[in-house]
Amino acid sequence: MPTIIDGKKTAASVVEAVKQAAFDIESRTSVKPGLAVIIVGDDPASHTYVAAKSRMAKDCGFNSVQYTLSEDTSQDEILRLVSQLNAAPEIHGILVQLPLPRHLDSELVVQSILPTKDVDGLNVTNAGKLATGDLSTGLVSCTPAGAMLLVRQIHGGDLSGLTAVVIGRSNLFGKPMVQLLLNANATVTIAHSRTKDLASHAKSADILVVAVGRAEMVRAAWVKPGATIIDVGINRTNSNERPRLVGDVAFGECAEVAGAITPVPGGVGPMTIAMLMANTVIAASRTLNLESSPALRDVGVQVR
Ligand code: GUN
Repeated sequence: MPTIIDGKKTAASVVEAVKQAAFDIESRTSVKPGLAVIIVGDDPASHTYVAAKSRMAKDCGFNSVQYTLSEDTSQDEILRLVSQLNAAPEIHGILVQLPLPRHLDSELVVQSILPTKDVDGLNVTNAGKLATGDLSTGLVSCTPAGAMLLVRQIHGGDLSGLTAVVIGRSNLFGKPMVQLLLNANATVTIAHSRTKDLASHAKSADILVVAVGRAEMVRAAWVKPGATIIDVGINRTNSNERPRLVGDVAFGECAEVAGAITPVPGGVGPMTIAMLMANTVIAASRTLNLESSPALRDVGVQVR
């Protein structure tokens, strides 16, 4: 049997460390870490995610503020709100939930967030810092940061000599994941929907990371024996008349070949919110000129 990578347990340990760090920050400065989450429109899945983020921020002892804007919010209105939050001293992290309604220019909105408050790591300044290997002053996108923490649990911090294949090339996940793996000395291939013979690329991977959004696309025949599989997919299916969540990897059959594998749910998913909380305390510590909390380092967060 492979190691089943327990993202729920790891996320809980990160959240405990974040609570400690938030408590330390407030004890020393009387300031709570502040996180503002903006959601536009009525997408039910996005509302569920955002509610979970806001609730967790409160649980962590943060000043948690949620802005729920109507579907017909204009570009100017959302840019004005981001600009106000950029200038607000009590807010250390800003997240605009994606996707935004079609009439809004997501890229323009995301790029208007101050890089030091960009807890999603999507600003070009943060993406550029990650790409140039500067992990000490930037903020890294939450899902790849969480996935990487799980990879480090299996392989340690130095991936020298290991091959990693990332399937998916989004700005939110694939590209930053590639940079994190490269930074840890893995030999990295980026595969995507236009890649020829995806299966043979996947099969070359010691570490296979999948973020394509297609239920159970990766089959056992794609997996190198003993590989570590990180499944970033969350797909709702109705197979066997039973609604359930499945990943981008056919878990049962791939688990028979892999050395370690993340389940869905309970793998990468819980790490995203935990790392958002970690990024918020990191951003608050930097703004308040405090040392980053050793509690975060102890649970494997790369405190930068
Ligand atoms: N939508 C789905 N995942 C994410 C995320 O990590 N951040 C933001 N801002 N929107 C998302």
